[in-house]
Amino acid sequence: MTPKAKRDFLRVADLSGDELRQLLDHATAMKNQRRHGGQRRSLEGRSVALIFEKSSTRTRVSFEVGAFELGAHPVVLNSRDMQLGRGESIEDTARTLSRYVHAIVLRTAGHDRVEALAAAASVPVINALTDDHHPCQILADLLTVRERRGSLEGLRYAWIGDANNVARSWVEAAERLGLALTVASPEGYGFKARELPANVWQVVDPREAARGADVVITDVWASMGQEGDAEVRRAAFAGYQVNAALLADANPGAMVLHCLPAHRGEEIDAALLDGPDAVVWDEAENRLHAQKALLEFLMR
Ligand code: CP
Ligand code: NVA
Repeated sequence: MTPKAKRDFLRVADLSGDELRQLLDHATAMKNQRRHGGQRRSLEGRSVALIFEKSSTRTRVSFEVGAFELGAHPVVLNSRDMQLGRGESIEDTARTLSRYVHAIVLRTAGHDRVEALAAAASVPVINALTDDHHPCQILADLLTVRERRGSLEGLRYAWIGDANNVARSWVEAAERLGLALTVASPEGYGFKARELPANVWQVVDPREAARGADVVITDVWASMGQEGDAEVRRAAFAGYQVNAALLADANPGAMVLHCLPAHRGEEIDAALLDGPDAVVWDEAENRLHAQKALLEFLMR
């Protein structure tokens, strides 16, 4: 019998719409189990390597705690302390780690690095953020919307800001799940038309995207690695702040998502972030539940 091919999660589009829905169902079940003290240690005896080549609070802690709660041993590595940081190749790192651990999670800059890791590893690889994609974030975002609204379908989604890694993963989720998403970015900071499926629209005016939206999503104007451009970006994105004035055009009760960390007073108004429309703390918590479901899905 040929062994079943391993699955990786490098981008949202690595899962089908049905698989995404099943994963969210499973995450909800695990969240309820945790609340009632009935954790399943389904990955007892397994280990997961978590490699960080960029800073992280939520992703790092939610994966480490998530693996622990499933009974797996998380090995958290900063690439600076590894031979990887001294020039050992990503492929040789993948081959070596595959002999010890049962999955590898990597946060890095170039998406080609996580692809190279996955190609050389014989265990599942998970993208914990690259410059191009942040698929784990979107699992938590979808879970948060579904919890609040009961369903993902029939809602209008607006992305306000940079067409960055988180936005690209949202575009893929919209494509996989058939969600109506409008992206508003300044000229020069949007997606190329060929990147967008038919149910994702791109506009320049943030009010056009926010009008009639049920879910308004934003993220920083300068992502990790773009700090040198922050000043130029602040100028380009002036007028793209998610605030009460922008939300006045959205549907009543519209929810605001932000993956965090936020730059209060830049892409999001501080009072809004602390107010009842922002669900960012639930969103952050849901990283834990969604990733536990993902680890089970890929490792069992
Ligand atoms: N949202 C998110 O990925 O946060 P961290 O950078 O803290 O992991
Ligand atoms: N777009 C942000 C997301 C951080 C979680 C970044 O890449 O820095």
